[in-house]
Amino acid sequence: MKAIQFSHYGDPDVLQIQEVADPIPAPDEVLIEVKATTVNRLDLFQRNGSRPVEKLPFTPGLEAAGVVLQDSNNFKAGDHVLTTRASQARGGGGYASKLAVPARDLARIPANVSFEQAVAAGLTASTAWGSLFDLGNLQKGERVLIWAGSSGVGSIGIQLAKQAGAWVATTASSEERVDALKQLGADLVINHRQQSVGKVLQETGGANLVIELVSSSLQESLQAAAPGGRIILIGNLGGKEATVDTQAWRLKRVSVLGGGQLHTSVANEEKFLQLIAEKAITPLVARTLPIEQAAEAHRLLDAGELQGKIVLRYV
Ligand SMILES: NC(=O)c1ccc[n+]([C@@H]2O[C@H](COP(=O)([O-])OP(=O)(O)OC[C@H]3O[C@@H](n4cnc5c(N)ncnc54)[C@H](OP(=O)(O)O)[C@@H]3O)[C@@H](O)[C@H]2O)c1
Repeated sequence: MKAIQFSHYGDPDVLQIQEVADPIPAPDEVLIEVKATTVNRLDLFQRNGSRPVEKLPFTPGLEAAGVVLQDSNNFKAGDHVLTTRASQARGGGGYASKLAVPARDLARIPANVSFEQAVAAGLTASTAWGSLFDLGNLQKGERVLIWAGSSGVGSIGIQLAKQAGAWVATTASSEERVDALKQLGADLVINHRQQSVGKVLQETGGANLVIELVSSSLQESLQAAAPGGRIILIGNLGGKEATVDTQAWRLKRVSVLGGGQLHTSVANEEKFLQLIAEKAITPLVARTLPIEQAAEAHRLLDAGELQGKIVLRYV
């Protein structure tokens, strides 16, 4: 089979297409042909060596959508499936053309959802679901602040929270993005370059739940939280460090929960795939490229100008 790999750390051009051995599935695994994968920030850090991998050569890719090749473990040849755990699959990660995936890690893709849509939702929707509902316990009628609404996690998170009947505030860095996020359903979009997000939320009634994707903004999230509110720490787009006023935190009785490497269950992944099938939510696809252009995809993500996921296709 083919796989996009790097055999040493470096710039995007270290990603090369290679001929490698097909994975041989164990009894609990299902062999799939990968049709689409995505580029995530972690792939860039692994490739440039800032997050060294266990062994070289290495095949990146956290998620994959594809077709089952042989009947096994209640899956039939031809079934369309998604895994958000492609880096743990035999033959993985997701930049490989075939994977042997434990059956328990496969979500079924409904008939009218494309591989591209499924994989673009993939890990970002799994993380958004996990943070909003599994850890955040979001309830109908509650108020939620989701930082970085234009991010993969943020853009699907806004839609999932609206579906659940929440009031949703989010952040963006330009007026163009503010408009785009209102179109996605956000009730309030704050330009974080022009206004204090914490102050605006405090003045408009506070948030019961804050999905913190920036980390360096933790003090603003504490300010934004309503008394007894919950903050779920999911990302660190702004860096790993934050200075907070512990007195305000303590007196407001805000809970801050870590959500590193968060996935929701496969059953919940099938629920968000069904919401895509019903057109209730739409994953944002910024660009789709053939897998051979993985290096270009890494450059595009690194430039940080796109809104939504970059999808790589095997044809
Ligand atoms: N816990 C998990 O399991 C998990 C899973 C997936 C991702 N993550 C984490 O979640 C975060 C988001 O990932 P992603 O892939 O969805 O991001 P992404 O698609 O790369 O989103 C980047 C966007 O975030 C906004 N942003 C960047 N820096 C910001 C800052 N300092 N303050 C406010 N907004 C900022 C920018 O939008 P504007 O210019 O409009 O502000 C930018 O376009 C990352 O930290 C990632 O590591 C965690």
